[in-house]
Amino acid sequence: MPVLRHIGMLATCRFEGGQSAIHAARNAALAWEEDEILWAGPDTELPAQYQELRQVRDFEGCLVVPGLIDCHTHLAFGGWRADEFEQRLSGRSYQEIAKSGGGILRTITATAETSDIDLIARCRAALAEMAKLGVTTVEAKTGYGLTVEGEIRLLEIYKSLEESQPVAIVPTLLAAHACPPEFERNRIFYIESICRDMIPEAAGRGLASFCDVFLEQGAFIKDEVKLIFEAARWHGLGLKIHADQLSDTGGASLAASFGAASADHLDCISEGGIRALAASGTVAVSLPLASLYLGRTPMPARRLIQAGVPVAVATDFNPGTAPSFHLPLAMLLACTMQRMTPAEVLKGATIYAAKAIGEEDDVGSLEPGKRADFAVIEAPDVSHWLYHFALHRCLATYIGGEKLGA
Ligand code: NIG
Ligand code: FE
Repeated sequence: MPVLRHIGMLATCRFEGGQSAIHAARNAALAWEEDEILWAGPDTELPAQYQELRQVRDFEGCLVVPGLIDCHTHLAFGGWRADEFEQRLSGRSYQEIAKSGGGILRTITATAETSDIDLIARCRAALAEMAKLGVTTVEAKTGYGLTVEGEIRLLEIYKSLEESQPVAIVPTLLAAHACPPEFERNRIFYIESICRDMIPEAAGRGLASFCDVFLEQGAFIKDEVKLIFEAARWHGLGLKIHADQLSDTGGASLAASFGAASADHLDCISEGGIRALAASGTVAVSLPLASLYLGRTPMPARRLIQAGVPVAVATDFNPGTAPSFHLPLAMLLACTMQRMTPAEVLKGATIYAAKAIGEEDDVGSLEPGKRADFAVIEAPDVSHWLYHFALHRCLATYIGGEKLGA
């Protein structure tokens, strides 16, 4: 049973108290046994029975935070699209590129051409790098298969990753990412295939926890999303949505009306959408890397926070709009681009991110009984960490009480 003592700052990030309440203590202690937290709080209050535990002495004076949670990634894909990055820099829009055969459809071909072994190796490499940054749980979407076999294949890859490396994976079926060209004239057949084949198999075999959809001009429309959400709900999947990213299509309100776990992007959310999310308790997931790469104004996070909406922060790691899995960088951008404070951002990458993926009872905060997932950061406090940004500030990542790489 180990204990960390004289931690410079420990942010427990318990849920209560709103976006900025990270429940931090200076000169703190954290005790755990196997994969479970026993105690977290000020060192002076550490109960006598934990004072004699085996002390880990390397991290005195550091910052300790809950393991970071990347609650929105498109982890498994083949190839990259650096040429499209260049095209966008010279003025072509994301949607123009998509219409001419680039974008998501191109990654679908590249993914089909990549073997399972190579896809798994790419994901493992990304997850290992994410873990070094302090990330301990990752939500991972499909969406680069778009056939029953292709989508289930990606879910099976996530299952094998979950079983073979330490970072926890929360799998999401995103079959409604793009409509395959062969269905463009008969879109309803693709929707039917999602509702009748993919969702029942993904849910029935326990391969997916959530169902996500891309509601946007050029992707899917509201009526299609409703059919998919109804089928997903019927089969017991949680709901997520890519909404109001490039235009306001009423996605936030739709998510709220279905009690979705999260509504993501929301760069173009309306006032009505904000009110609807506030009333439903749906988490708004901010993806500032995508806004940065697309050169767009990000989600108006301040207005959402003011309205009482919990705002999570994630990377959106994907080969098109956010080809980076650096969650602390996304957190810094949420500060500078969205005027969120470092404390608000930390809450957004921990307990609110956990809520966005239905894992808030197990991870996302440092409380007795929760999984001993935490990151030791080389900084005196949360503000200093994000202000004096460096690519690697994380000194150690613990998952289930085990130090990675030890
Ligand atoms: O979250 N918006 C849709 N999906 C991704 C982009 C995927 C891609 O371009 O390959 C996103 O931004
Ligand atoms: Fe996304």
